[in-house]
Amino acid sequence: MASIPAWRSLLPGTLALALLVACAPDGSSAPRQAAPAPAAGEAAAADALAEAVAGLRARIVSQVPADQLAGLTPARVLDLASDAERQLLATGFLGFTVDAPATVHVLLSPDADEAPFWLAEQGFERSGLDALVDGDDDFRGWSKQVPAGEVALGVHSLGLGDKPYLVVVGPAEAGGAQPAISNQWPAQMTVAVAEAGVRAFADDTDEIDAIAPALEGLALLQTLEKRENAAGLAGYFRSTPHPSSAAADHVVLTWSGDPATTQSIQWRTGPGSTHARVRYAADGAGPVVVDASSAVLHTPDVANDPEVMRHTAVLGGLQPGTTYRYAIGDGASWGEEREFTTAPERDGGFSFIYMGDAQNGLETWGELVRSARAAHPQAAFYVMAGDLVNWGERRDDWDLLFHNARGVYDTRPLVAAIGNHEVDEGHADLYVAQFDLPRNGPDGIEPERVYSMEYSDALFVVLDSNLEPEPQVEWLDQTLGASEATWKFVVFHHPLYSPRPGDRGQPELKAAWTPVFEKHGVDLVLTGDDHAYMRSHPLRGDQVMESPADGPIYILSVAGTKMYGQEDAPYVARRFTDIATCQVIDIEGGRLEYTSYDIDGQVMDAFSVEK
Ligand SMILES: [Fe+2]
Ligand SMILES: [Fe+2]
Repeated sequence: MASIPAWRSLLPGTLALALLVACAPDGSSAPRQAAPAPAAGEAAAADALAEAVAGLRARIVSQVPADQLAGLTPARVLDLASDAERQLLATGFLGFTVDAPATVHVLLSPDADEAPFWLAEQGFERSGLDALVDGDDDFRGWSKQVPAGEVALGVHSLGLGDKPYLVVVGPAEAGGAQPAISNQWPAQMTVAVAEAGVRAFADDTDEIDAIAPALEGLALLQTLEKRENAAGLAGYFRSTPHPSSAAADHVVLTWSGDPATTQSIQWRTGPGSTHARVRYAADGAGPVVVDASSAVLHTPDVANDPEVMRHTAVLGGLQPGTTYRYAIGDGASWGEEREFTTAPERDGGFSFIYMGDAQNGLETWGELVRSARAAHPQAAFYVMAGDLVNWGERRDDWDLLFHNARGVYDTRPLVAAIGNHEVDEGHADLYVAQFDLPRNGPDGIEPERVYSMEYSDALFVVLDSNLEPEPQVEWLDQTLGASEATWKFVVFHHPLYSPRPGDRGQPELKAAWTPVFEKHGVDLVLTGDDHAYMRSHPLRGDQVMESPADGPIYILSVAGTKMYGQEDAPYVARRFTDIATCQVIDIEGGRLEYTSYDIDGQVMDAFSVEK
């Protein structure tokens, strides 16, 4: 039996007997919940392990040369661990109590190449009693016998992205009494009967498809899938190809206020840089200098550039339809001079560009966006419908995006929506930290994830399709209803109409949002996610309409290199895949011209709307 980590003594006594396993009339083991499991156990377990992992990461950074961090192996990680850290990695991932001698089966996900280091050390042996999970994942069984008492097991992996193991508990001897499980930590784990059709994890929909007959009917401890990166050490450190310096780079324009009279400018420097001011001037006017607000962005996983400064200057009181030159500096010396142009007064014609997922192949995407900037200099801003990057929680991926957007987003504002790849465990931390966006979304939703703005005679509503649709409905209805703009565009990530094969429908989003779009005469719904191109006919109540006046046109597109297939569907007006595109939308009064181009400037789709 492994020794119990010292922090376990901190757990509340009320954990006892949170779950019992009783014997069902047919002789199989059926779980029943005796009392709600307190959350404190999960927090304590996660905290103790997280503290050890954070300490180990810090020691790794101090002892391993920066150029070796990205190639760190699990064996090297263990060499660097202190005895206490090693002990916690070996026993601090999860645990439980059995009230009688038991056989504990640990079923390892195939994600990790190697069995965890502690498994054989604790006396587990390969049992050959396996399970199939979620279609084709073969979880390999290891087992050992334990006396009555506490069982503490170690981390499933020292890497990232490997699913945790499952635990099955049975009698010490075949045919013996089924031991009761109690005191499990983290307390959010649940107990079920091990059999096909049961969820493998407490917090995920993956199911057990098949399980070795000898394990069938025993107690399954459903572990927490979300803890897959709990001991992410090997593979945790990466290096950015574009580290920061004292000079400002990754300059991005956005709006958090009225596009006619404000401009937000954001950029990056290395820590301690004093380049936190903007000087700007319209033609013939004297320059104005404003201070930025600055914040440190800690990203310890970016081994060669773990800390950067993000600066945001918000310029106000600007004149509509006016071009300003601006430069970033410290007040004494100034960098490269760039320009931006405010939105025209209402009714002024304008153009903008809409693109789908960049996400993969950001160098190739960079060529597309920079060629769009050169070919369509009149386009006033760039709408991105989510999945700007593949790894939203990795700053080095954002560095790649910003680097490739050089010469584009520093002179033409970005209007962004959040894709699923910007979200990690429900949060979009780096997205929110790096973009200054309007804070006019629904109450109860994190600011900047849902917002609206008017540009000339057009309303842009940006929704977050990663969040529940219902809490956005009332605000959407009010925002669309209150606007007198001639043109109404809605932007979000997940398409409501997609001809991609398989189950890609968004029935909840569609049911909640399309009636509101139809009620308020939304013109275009701009989305991404399905890595192809599709433009629908005008649709109302899922029916194809004659005229755009009768229902919105739904568009999905892709700007990166990942591509998915498509099928025919009655609502499709135009579709293709394997081609990255940019869409130019020109508006002049009551006329809208839409043109989709590939990277060579070839027209891939076009239509117009007249009001
Ligand atoms: Fe996506
Ligand atoms: Fe995507």
